[in-house]
Parts: sequence; C-alpha cells; structure tokens
Amino acid sequence: MPTTQHDLFRYDIAKSYDWNYENAPDPVDIEVPDYPGEWDFMGIPTGSPLGMPAGPLLNGKWVLYYASLGFDVLTYKTVRTRERACYDLPNLQPVDTEPLHGGEPECPTTLEMTGSWAVSFGMPSKAPDVWREDVETTRKKLPKGKVLSVSVVGSVLEGWGIEELAADYARCAKWAVDSGADVVETNFSCPNVSSPDGQLYQQHEDARFVAKTVRQAIGDTPYLIKVGHVPTRKEADWLIRAVGPYVDGLAMTNSVATKVRDEEGNLLFEGQCRGICGKATLDESLKQVGTFHEIIQEKHHDLKLIGVGGASTAEDVQSYLDQGAHSVQIATAAMVDPEVAIRIRESVSNP
Ligand SMILES: Cc1cc2nc3c(=O)[nH]c(=O)nc-3n(C[C@H](O)[C@H](O)[C@H](O)COP(=O)(O)O)c2cc1C
Repeated sequence: MPTTQHDLFRYDIAKSYDWNYENAPDPVDIEVPDYPGEWDFMGIPTGSPLGMPAGPLLNGKWVLYYASLGFDVLTYKTVRTRERACYDLPNLQPVDTEPLHGGEPECPTTLEMTGSWAVSFGMPSKAPDVWREDVETTRKKLPKGKVLSVSVVGSVLEGWGIEELAADYARCAKWAVDSGADVVETNFSCPNVSSPDGQLYQQHEDARFVAKTVRQAIGDTPYLIKVGHVPTRKEADWLIRAVGPYVDGLAMTNSVATKVRDEEGNLLFEGQCRGICGKATLDESLKQVGTFHEIIQEKHHDLKLIGVGGASTAEDVQSYLDQGAHSVQIATAAMVDPEVAIRIRESVSNP
C-alpha cells in the first residue's frame, strides 16, 4: 500500500502554458525511499533509473520540484535558438482509447483523464538568454546524483535547407552545454525541412547529417536523440545505422499520432494529428525498445536506450528495463500524480 498521499501542486491543464511557467511550484520536503541497485545515466551516477522526459519541466523551478519528488534524470523542456509561442488551449486533451499501435486514424476525447491525452504545445521556447541563464542556475542548484539533460530542436526559417537546420540544432545544443547541461537530447520527432510530410527521425540521411553536425559542436558531452514511433525492424535498423556513429543513445517513443474528435463529432486541432501520450502508448513503446535493443545487441552497437511512453508503475519500469532500457522516463503519469516516483520507489524497495 502506498504510504504517501500529499496534496501536491500539478500542472493546470485548464490554464495557459505561460501561466504554468510563471506559477511553477517550490521543491517539497518529502521522504524519498532509496531505489535498490546501482544506477547511472549515460555514465553519470544516479540514485535510480527514474527520469522525466522533455515537456513537463517548463523551467528550472519545475526541474527542482520534480527532483525533490524522487526523479533523478530531469530533462529541461525542448528549447530553441529563438523564442516561440505556445499553441492555444487545449494543450492537453484527455482521450479515451485502447492501446495504440500506430495507424489508428483518430480517437475520441473524454472529460475525465483516464491515462492518455493528446499533446499540443508546438514546442514553445523562451528566448535563448532566458533559458540559458535558467539552465545555468538550475544545474548549480540540483543536488549530487541528479542529472540535467536539455532537449533542443532546430527552428526552420523560410528558404532553409538541411544544412541551415543542422547548424541551428548544433548552435542550440552547444548553448545548452555551455549553460551546464550534463546531457543533450535533440528532438528528431519534429517535421523535416527537406520533406515536410515526414519527421527528421524518419529521413535517415538528413538525421545522420544533423546528428553528425551536433556531435561536432558538443564534443564529448553525452548525446541522445529523441525519436517517435518506428513501426518496423527494418526502419529501426536504418535509423541505428544512420545516427549510431554520432550519438550515445536514443530516447523513445515520443508519442503515437492520431486525429482527435470531440463529443460533438468535430475534429480538434483543425483536423491535424497530435501525439497521444500516456498509458495508450506503453505496449507499443515497450515493443519498440525491445526491437532496437535486439539490433544493438546483434550488431554490437554501443547505444543506450531510454524508455519513454506510458510508464506509471514499478512493473512498467521493470518491463522497460527487461526490454533493454538503460533508464525510464515518465511524463504523463508524473503530471497527473506528482508522487508517482515515490510510489514506484516504495513498491521496488518493499516488493
Ligand atoms: C506536457 C507535455 C509536453 C511535451 N513536450 C515535449 C517536448 O517539448 N519535446 C519532446 O521531445 N517531447 C515532448 N513531450 C513528449 C514526452 O517527452 C514523452 O515522449 C511523452 O509524453 C510520452 O511519455 P508519457 O507517456 O510518460 O507521457 C511532451 C509531453 C507532454 C505530456
């Protein structure tokens, strides 16, 4: 039985991104049980395999809050080389769906959150001077054993090709490292300039070029790429071959995309797909991590896998580790229940 039950601050989905940015909570003083075993994240010692992926940690205050709640790997939300506003509400729309496997055309909204939601922020970013100073201060305040990873994405300007996009990714990654990031993650689950109907992780030559350019800019800093849904082993193999020489690991799965229809029968988000995150993506993401792990083992690649998608319990974390994940990151469940890492730790330390 869980022993913790506090009334803790949560991201308010009825309010704007900027409101949630401004109203970030302070760290809390709560007992955090030890997680048995020895753990590291990309070679940096940590107290557990538990982390949070890019998104819910809008700024340094959110990072320090969740660090106080038992997460050891904190990913600062995706930032850019220029300021970008957030999409209008809803940014987080609960949906009612069975496990998703990719290819589902749409799913219905629901009033109550039942574990999964459509995510629609558009990767907003504060201006670089704001986030760079915030990353620097946050790194200094984070206790030993906590890792700060910073997620970055390139911002496409009109007329740009892949060279310009790669240079923008590299500039942003270098700024993150200069500001004190322990690890850099480039988000490749975003539209590609060369082929706007595809995403960068699906365009292997472009992905290779961007990864190589980023690696040249950040030296030896541990480097991860975040990817979306990769449905086949063949595509997984291509992706590993393309980016493997330049990165230390891959974080997956960003989300599974579908359209979203409301109770009145209208498609939300102007009929465009949105990434569904949370419980509905667990099975598919576990499978994907397993497939990538098999290839890495067979081909003797030295790549770490970060399991992301739908985890909310100690069993889910263990399932990711069993599939070959080096570490496990939780977004949706941590936003709904800020004590989720404490519950997982309680359950692992008292099986
Ligand atoms: C509120 C929110 C914002 C997100 N923003 C980003 C982002 O900026 N960059 C990114 O790579 N992924 C983003 N994601 C995706 C998460 O990093 C993660 O891949 C996804 O939520 C799956 O994990 P979960 O099922 O535990 O939520 C976001 C997710 C949520 C819930």
